[in-house]
Amino acid sequence: MDVLILGIESSCDDTSAAVLRNNVMLSNVIAGQKVHEQFGGVVPELASRAHQQNIIPVVEAAIRNANIDKKQLSAVAFTRGPGLLGSLMVGISFAKSFAWALGIPLIDIDHIHAHVMANFLLEPDETRKLPAFPFLCLIVSGGHTQLAVVKDAFDMEIIGSTIDDAAGETFDKAAKIMSLPYPGGPMIDKMAQTGNADAFSFAKPRIPELNFSFSGLKTSFLYFLRDELKKNDHFIESHTADLCASIQKTIVDILVEKTEKAVVQTGIKTLALAGGVSANSALRKAMQQLAEKHQLDLHIPKMSFTTDNAAMIAMSGYFKFQKGMFADLAATPYATGSKK
Ligand code: KG4
Ligand code: ZN
Repeated sequence: MDVLILGIESSCDDTSAAVLRNNVMLSNVIAGQKVHEQFGGVVPELASRAHQQNIIPVVEAAIRNANIDKKQLSAVAFTRGPGLLGSLMVGISFAKSFAWALGIPLIDIDHIHAHVMANFLLEPDETRKLPAFPFLCLIVSGGHTQLAVVKDAFDMEIIGSTIDDAAGETFDKAAKIMSLPYPGGPMIDKMAQTGNADAFSFAKPRIPELNFSFSGLKTSFLYFLRDELKKNDHFIESHTADLCASIQKTIVDILVEKTEKAVVQTGIKTLALAGGVSANSALRKAMQQLAEKHQLDLHIPKMSFTTDNAAMIAMSGYFKFQKGMFADLAATPYATGSKK
């Protein structure tokens, strides 16, 4: 029997709703929030208000685009955490009342789990081999940088983590230092296209095992620019592309180096990427090279499934639906950590 799941995502500054038929995306509507641009980062209070304005039209559009009637839905899956509490609360309250009104189950989803599960999403008419368990997953988002062994849909062992900043955060902070608009990752990626990645070199951290560190890189980038600006006021404007390409290469090198170590250490031949930074063109290319070198079966989500979206929430919900893992109306959000 086909299962139709409505997914709701509101953990940060994107309000998104999606409908899936099993693991096939029928619609995936995302409303971004321009209001944060002028502040150079997400303002939590403004994010909650924008979610409140967006949630109904976004859900309506998702149901309309999927060409279904809401009465056909089998369940509602929502992001329970981690994320901004005020933002999460908007999606959770909506999901609860919608599921209750329709008399269908409610499924609570961990946002990071959903990023990983995005690798199982298909678009209509798409035929693609799905990742086989167990697989290695590099999770790179705005708040997380982790290496995980995904043993099955509900058993994920974290084998490496950042000890300070996340990769996405590093992109965003580097962009801010150069006065580029938020979010910095996509902007650095774009500017880097015309830059020389070997123009400048920045110190890479020496962190044991499979853990990551990015705060030293951020500081060395900041000090390097401070020194150059003393000599030339226009250093950033006249070297933006090279600076973007060089910092991007350093971040990608750090990620690839640890991923390669994890591949060798675990002997696992299936590798997946997850999270917003997996949209980065240099990272995608470097991972393809790594996959060729070690003959890995590589899975990278489609661009629209890399950054925050509700299709991945519904996908994670589909796995839980099959196991009858439902939430109750008393479910509360969580800001940090993870739950299954
Ligand atoms: O997964 P995500 O959308 O939200 C979180 O769960 O955090 O990730 C957002 C992060 C931001 O730091 C953003 O700058 C980064 O992903 N990002 C990118 C690119 N697109 C998004 N970083 C580098 N290159 C990109 N193309
Ligand atoms: Zn995310």
